[in-house]
Amino acid sequence: MIRHIIAAIATVLALWASYYMYTLDKEVQKLKEIHRIIKASEIKVQLKKPVISRVNVQKNSKAEAEKQLQAKNKELDQKLQALKNKAGNIAAFKVSKLYKQNCSSCHGVNGKGIIGPSLVGKSKEFILEQLKEFKSGKRKNYVMYGLLQKMDDEKLNNLATEISTFKEKWDKYNNQ
Ligand code: HEC
Repeated sequence: MIRHIIAAIATVLALWASYYMYTLDKEVQKLKEIHRIIKASEIKVQLKKPVISRVNVQKNSKAEAEKQLQAKNKELDQKLQALKNKAGNIAAFKVSKLYKQNCSSCHGVNGKGIIGPSLVGKSKEFILEQLKEFKSGKRKNYVMYGLLQKMDDEKLNNLATEISTFKEKWDKYNNQ
């Protein structure tokens, strides 16, 4: 409303000024004075706009910021839940002492692999065959060869049996 009044005044002033300019264009001083008045009223009109839009921007950005904050909080909650799940999964993923002490440093406590390849999803027969071949030196790997020398067939069999259940365990804990 106030903006409209000011705009109207400005328009009237402008019209008045152009009329004045038309009739008294030789009176330079007067013209300058009118020009000053118009400029002053223009400033007023211009001043109003940014003030109004700034209020709107503040309102908008406040609502926007609140939304973003809520989204962030939700995201954090989800991440925290995922972390809790993961921690629970790792804690629940129990392995034998034999595996933990001899194999987990390279194949991971859950068999997913670190230095050594992932053993998850490999069959008992396959694993046992690999272990026997590493031990005999048929499949050449210095680390695996050295490690398996002190292990009898029973241990190899136990390890192969245990590792072959990793996939099932892994799937179970990840679907909880
Ligand atoms: C110092 C690291 C290290 C340790 C400890 C270790 N491994 Fe390995 N393992 C490896 C590496 C590296 C390979 C890959 C060898 C290759 O491909 O030549 C491997 C390969 C294997 C393979 C063959 C996988 C495939 O897909 O062909 C099996 C099975 C295996 N390891 C089981 C075990 C078991 C069981 C133990 C514990 C008794 C163990 N490993 C301990 C490093 C290790």
